[in-house]
This record gives sequence, structure tokens and C-alpha cells, in this order.
Amino acid sequence: MSNELVVRATAARERAIATFSNFKVGAALRTKNGRIYEGCNIENASFGLTTCAERLTLLKALSEGERDFAEIVVVTDAERLTPPCGPCRQLLWEFCGDIKVHLHSTRGVEETYQLSELFPHPFDITHL
Ligand code: THU
Repeated sequence: MSNELVVRATAARERAIATFSNFKVGAALRTKNGRIYEGCNIENASFGLTTCAERLTLLKALSEGERDFAEIVVVTDAERLTPPCGPCRQLLWEFCGDIKVHLHSTRGVEETYQLSELFPHPFDITHL
């Protein structure tokens, strides 16, 4: 995976608003034509309104008109790599399909999965 994706997600992670969990997450999503969008988690006092880094990043890109995605990286400083939560996996699947998902720690560890490995047997538009 390119260093630029990690650099952008790591910088976004610094902007996380993790007032309650103190768990900062950054994400960067690359489109098939090479553009990169990044985001971070945003928490607020009404906990349920928290937005994950992955979701915010995806929605930013979609709102800019992007539709074709290649890969996403999720950056934390945790010892255990941080995979996207269930709702984010659903949205990534619906809008990105079977992209590569890189899990990266600022401690230098990284693993790469296909989204279909993390999210087998998805519900999607083909079921409607
Ligand atoms: N979080 C993310 O942003 N992405 C993940 O993949 C896991 C969890 C955020 C949500 C919340 O702000 C904090 O991490 C703790 O759950």
C-alpha cells in the first residue's frame, strides 16, 4: 500500500474529536482515479451520534461525486489493529464493493484484507 494513504490517514487521525473514548481513528480512501479523501472520528455528548472515521471519509467522497473506490486504510495507535465496525462495513460494501482494507497502527504494524473477508454474506441491493 502506498505511503501517501497512511500519511493522509495519520494526519486526519490527529484531528479526531474523541472526547469520550480518547480513541482516535483516521481513515483515507483512494478512488480508482487516484484521488484521496481522509477523515477522522467525531464524538459528541449524545454518544449515539458519533461518526466513525471510515464513514465520514466515505460520505465526504460520495458527496464530492466519487463513485469508484480502490482501497481504504484505517489508522489508530492501538496494539491490536482496528477493523471497521459493522455499520461501516455495510456502507463500505454497498458503495465500494470488495475493496482492499488496510489496517495500520502507528506502531508500525499493518494487515490487509479484502472487504469480503471482513464482511462475508452481506445484505445488499441484489437482495431487493
Ligand atoms: N471508531 C472509528 O472511528 N472507526 C472504527 O473502525 C472503530 C471505532 C471510533 C468510534 C468512536 O469514536 C471510537 O472509535 C471508539 O469506539
